[in-house]
Amino acid sequence: MQWRIRLLLLTVVIGFSGQAQTQTDTSFWQDWRRWGRDTKQIRKARKKNPKEVGALTASSPWLARTLAQSVEGEATVPHEPRKILEIGCGPGNVTECIIAKMHPDDRLDAVECTKVLYDQACVRIEALRSAAQGQGFPDVRLHCSAFPDFDSGVEQYDDIISTLPFVSLPNEVVITILPAIFARLKPGGTFTYMTFLGANWGTKVWKTITLNFDELKEYNQKMDVFNEWLESAFELERKPIVWLNFTPSWVCAFRKKD
Ligand SMILES: C[S@@+](CC[C@H](N)C(=O)[O-])C[C@H]1O[C@@H](n2cnc3c(N)ncnc32)[C@H](O)[C@@H]1O
Repeated sequence: MQWRIRLLLLTVVIGFSGQAQTQTDTSFWQDWRRWGRDTKQIRKARKKNPKEVGALTASSPWLARTLAQSVEGEATVPHEPRKILEIGCGPGNVTECIIAKMHPDDRLDAVECTKVLYDQACVRIEALRSAAQGQGFPDVRLHCSAFPDFDSGVEQYDDIISTLPFVSLPNEVVITILPAIFARLKPGGTFTYMTFLGANWGTKVWKTITLNFDELKEYNQKMDVFNEWLESAFELERKPIVWLNFTPSWVCAFRKKD
């Protein structure tokens, strides 16, 4: 129960300090209820797969919408169909926001390795598809597999959005995923991910207290590789903070260098 009380307090304090007023499409309380439902699903899955799922809560609707802005930012007139990849779609909460920003000619592949979350995402996307009654609904395909081991038939994407928990994933997984993201992204394409505010130093302090020397060294190496990779292959486009999330997070949107 304790996490729910903390989450409620955080939401109320930050919500009333301004962000809630930026909502246009759904009400603040609808978003709050949706976040609660997604978090329940994420927490259940996390009990079985703590490292893969990583987060204690689902991304909040406010965070999900900010992540999805990378797709909106790419609109051109006339529209050029875009190919979008979402990695770690969980129960489909961010997927839903990406779809809301998509053009009917665009295509989205969403990959999720935890079967129970993949099933929930399928139900959610099917509900959206039937609500649209086939009108203007983009080509959305869900894949139950672990990135990068999935075959969508698309060689390179225009946008990749990830909510993978890079901080908690093992080194060998992160080191495999990074070059795969690079390879699957077109030159000039966008790579967007989220990271908790202070995740680097906060996790470092936590790991310094709880881990032995070798584990800490391994963690530091992983984060160094991650940051060096970003700096060498990408340019930062935007890095807004989303306060209304547990915990508040940065959305980091990068563009692959040509
Ligand atoms: C932090 S959760 C995010 C879930 C949801 N997108 C959100 O933002 O609330 C990370 C998700 O990535 C999935 N995941 C972890 N490693 C993965 C991989 N290699 N390929 C695909 N999904 C992965 C986990 O199962 C989990 O659902």
